Amino acid sequence: MSSRPRIAVIIGSTRPTRFADGPAQWILKQAQARGDMDVELVDLRDHPLPFFSEMASNMWMPSQNPEAIRWQETIARFDGFIFVTAEYNHSITGVLKNALDQAYKEWIRKPFTAIGYGSVGGVRAVEHLRLIAIELQMVSTHATVHIGGSDFFAVHPMFGKKTIEDIEANLLPSAKTALDELVWWAKATMAAKAADA
Ligand SMILES: Cc1cc2nc3c(=O)[nH]c(=O)nc-3n(C[C@H](O)[C@H](O)[C@H](O)COP(=O)(O)O)c2cc1C
Repeated sequence: MSSRPRIAVIIGSTRPTRFADGPAQWILKQAQARGDMDVELVDLRDHPLPFFSEMASNMWMPSQNPEAIRWQETIARFDGFIFVTAEYNHSITGVLKNALDQAYKEWIRKPFTAIGYGSVGGVRAVEHLRLIAIELQMVSTHATVHIGGSDFFAVHPMFGKKTIEDIEANLLPSAKTALDELVWWAKATMAAKAADA
């Protein structure tokens, strides 16, 4: 078994004019540059899930919808996750909540971190994400990355013209800590699962 965790960067917005691509590409680049994980983008646009309509969570019985099953197979391939988290009305996007609901077994005992964005850095969304993840038996990193305040308005194309690289000095310390923690938890949970097997 490779000791390099397989990490998915999950883009939590599917709007045609979403801002999410900038933060997703930026955190992907940071994660790839480290060399201690195998990281790839998972775009919810490539997983057009219906609103949850199964008999139960797949913890209790297998899902029927082919897209839900394909989504579960995608999530199963990874040891940990980086959620790219917009804030919609002080929480995560509906599309991300639905995607979290559409799997269960595949999230259990896996760590995640997040990069949030919004007027206050998406912190309320990330805190809600942590609450949801408790029920999914996931492990949250302590550190997360937040693009907020004047940085958010400078890089969001509706308000400013800067790139994320222009303000990245404000993000790099938290990104390093968040990714350090993510790799630590991924290795710890992988080792614990291997010992159980
Ligand atoms: C339905 C909706 C609700 C929003 N609520 C918030 C909010 O509570 N806090 C915030 O900082 N931004 C909020 N925004 C603004 C978003 O931060 C901004 O639109 C951002 O670009 C959304 O991410 P996306 O473009 O990747 O979808 C909201 C936007 C939408 C469309």
